[in-house]
Amino acid sequence: MANVTVIGAQWGDEGKGKIVDWLASRADAVVRFQGGHNAGHTLVIDGTTYKLSLLPSGIVTGTLSIVGNGVVLDPWALKAEVEKLIGQGVAITPDNFAIADNCPLILPIHRDLDQLRETAAGKGKIGTTGRGIGPAYEDKVGRRAIRVCDLAHLDTLDPQLDRLCAHHDALRAGFNEPPVDRARLIADLKEIAPFVLQFAQPVWKRLRDVRKEGARILFEGAQGVLLDVDHGTYPFVTSSNTVSGTVASGSGVGPGSAGFVLGIVKAYTTRVGSGPFPTELQDEVGQRLGERGHEFGTVTGRQRRCGWFDAVLVRQSCAISGVTGIALTKLDVLDGFDTLKICTGYKLRGEVIDYLPSHAADQAEVEPVYEEMEGWKGSTAGARSWADLPAQAVKYIRRIEELIDCPVASVSTSPERDDTILVRDPFED
Ligand code: GDP
Ligand code: IMO
Ligand code: MG
Repeated sequence: MANVTVIGAQWGDEGKGKIVDWLASRADAVVRFQGGHNAGHTLVIDGTTYKLSLLPSGIVTGTLSIVGNGVVLDPWALKAEVEKLIGQGVAITPDNFAIADNCPLILPIHRDLDQLRETAAGKGKIGTTGRGIGPAYEDKVGRRAIRVCDLAHLDTLDPQLDRLCAHHDALRAGFNEPPVDRARLIADLKEIAPFVLQFAQPVWKRLRDVRKEGARILFEGAQGVLLDVDHGTYPFVTSSNTVSGTVASGSGVGPGSAGFVLGIVKAYTTRVGSGPFPTELQDEVGQRLGERGHEFGTVTGRQRRCGWFDAVLVRQSCAISGVTGIALTKLDVLDGFDTLKICTGYKLRGEVIDYLPSHAADQAEVEPVYEEMEGWKGSTAGARSWADLPAQAVKYIRRIEELIDCPVASVSTSPERDDTILVRDPFED
């Protein structure tokens, strides 16, 4: 079985979109299995940039692209994204795009609640993308969600809406907000329903059928392991499980379907939003990383926080997510640094530890223990083979492999699809 699962092994924005697009031409289907349009994946193909949030990154190559049931779907954001990509010449039809009919919807009331809570939290805010992701997942597990399949039964939606609105009205009252405008919500759903329903189907069945024909499936994770609601830097996390294990429950395939787990790892560390970040650099080095790496969020345009490579975190992510090999990205951003630092452990109350503790206060208190390496003089930008890399850059990669206890399967050296060095083909492993 030659499936591949791509997941972020840090705090998101590792370059998953680029790698999924690069692998997509050899897959028969690309499947999103968690998250929503909080994701922002940028692909650059022959100088043209495509920005995706909800659509799987395989859509640009025309590969069958599937939104699994584990995703939370904002139908209006979906329509806008589909129209934007069609405008860029990408074909999106029911032949190459499918949405799980049991996928919960993100409604305007979820976005309202997300934003109201963040504003009220002031300095203590999570720094969410404000897209309504958390409230939509809450309603899913609270058994109040409106799902894609409900769009075909809007005339009998009243009992479900009663439950949903009772819950939201109580929350809204706490923020001095008026009750849900139910008539408007129904009218909006009626208007958007045909657009969504043309793609809706039982995705588990479609995946079963293509698997029977020997299809190679590429599962595309969003966010990263450190944003996982269980394993991440809780409460500064997203509201879904971002680890590789989610492919099964989030798309309706068995637990053995993940195949080669490719962890996407940036050659340094970034984070957007609040929360602990042990190797963060609030100095000119951090600024230089941000400028060289163009570290601004695709979704919100927020500046990403930057810091040195943290081997403790990536080793932890690889273990938690059963990573088979990593794709190291943005190596070129480190070109020209005299010295590079890698975090190999943490000091906590006088003791050196080799993992990130679970408690938020401890996570905020740990101090990185660094190992220094010489940088490289030449350029790695655009390198497409191992031989193109300066010797010191190869040393940096080898040291990372050792410290995270996981081999490098590929190295990315620019935003362009083909500026990628293949070390080990995840589809052939
Ligand atoms: P994702 O959320 O993991 O898909 O990552 P994003 O797309 O949000 O952020 C990664 C950014 O880095 C995008 O703008 C990519 O075009 C860019 N990128 C990806 N790989 C490389 C690389 O190897 N070098 C450089 N310089 N940029 C890269
Ligand atoms: P991709 O797929 C980076 C972060 C937000 C915030 C926290 C919770 O592009 O890597 P949410 O809106 O999900 O409730 O926000 O999670 N976050 C991301 N950070 N990349 C992402 O996605 C993210 N998706 C959510 O900034 O800190
Ligand atoms: Mg991103």
